[in-house]
Amino acid sequence: MTYALELKDLRKNFGKTEIIRGAQLAVNAGERIAIIGPNGAGKSTLFNLISGRLTPTSGDVLLNGQRINGKKPYEINRLGLSRSFQITNIFPKLSVFENLRCGVLWSLGYKYTFLRFLSRLDDANERTEALIRQVGLERKRDVLAVNLTYAEQRALEIGVTIAGGADVILLDEPTAGMSKTETAHFIALIKHVTVGKTLLTVEHDMGVVFGLADKIAVVVYGEVIAFDTPAAVRANARVQEAYLGSAVADAQGGH
Ligand SMILES: Nc1ncnc2c1ncn2[C@@H]1O[C@H](COP(=O)(O)OP(=O)(O)OP(=O)(O)O)[C@@H](O)[C@H]1O
Ligand SMILES: [Mg+2]
Repeated sequence: MTYALELKDLRKNFGKTEIIRGAQLAVNAGERIAIIGPNGAGKSTLFNLISGRLTPTSGDVLLNGQRINGKKPYEINRLGLSRSFQITNIFPKLSVFENLRCGVLWSLGYKYTFLRFLSRLDDANERTEALIRQVGLERKRDVLAVNLTYAEQRALEIGVTIAGGADVILLDEPTAGMSKTETAHFIALIKHVTVGKTLLTVEHDMGVVFGLADKIAVVVYGEVIAFDTPAAVRANARVQEAYLGSAVADAQGGH
């Protein structure tokens, strides 16, 4: 069977230092994966390799069975993979509507000739309005992104990330900097807007990880040392030793 996303013995050197050291991962379509691991383990670098910002030193990245390493980020995006960044990635001087419509138009632009593109503008506007409702920003439709609250900006960013209709979504620390309440609200939003899609999210908050993920990938020192259901990862002695022991205890203590 074909995986939505597959990493095969992926490696990346920066200078002489090997940062990604033979990472393996095979994600089924529609699965929600949380990627956890210590600071500097290589989680964002993995996302950069998958999304085409960085080229692997060796190994392969397959998207729906197609080899994508070496392709440009926009080519990979057009093949159905979209990512958000650890830092916010929206146009501050554009409104909510305009930001989302950019994402929608981008996805239409390559499929149609100019004249057909014009005839599709109504569709684009409709799709944009639907996205605004999906991310819960109806009342902020015409507000400039710069004037949104932090949580609203992150919601907008999720909207921009899914606007092009990608079926594999990568989110790098989507709840960073949010309060507990904002985080809970935001995770519900992410679940809602990614129904039926394949989701990989880097997350440090173990409560969020265990609530969101079908499977957890544990990245330590440039390798995926475990990839399994939350229950199995929780029970994995190697994971406990390397990383998770105290973090899991914290998350359970909080219940
Ligand atoms: N462009 C680069 N050039 C050189 N070294 C880099 C580059 N990008 C990342 N690194 C190094 O690679 C390692 C992995 O970094 P990365 O950002 O992928 O970690 P991370 O798991 O996302 O960490 P965090 O949880 O803090 O976000 C770090 O030691 C980092 O300093
Ligand atoms: Mg990171």
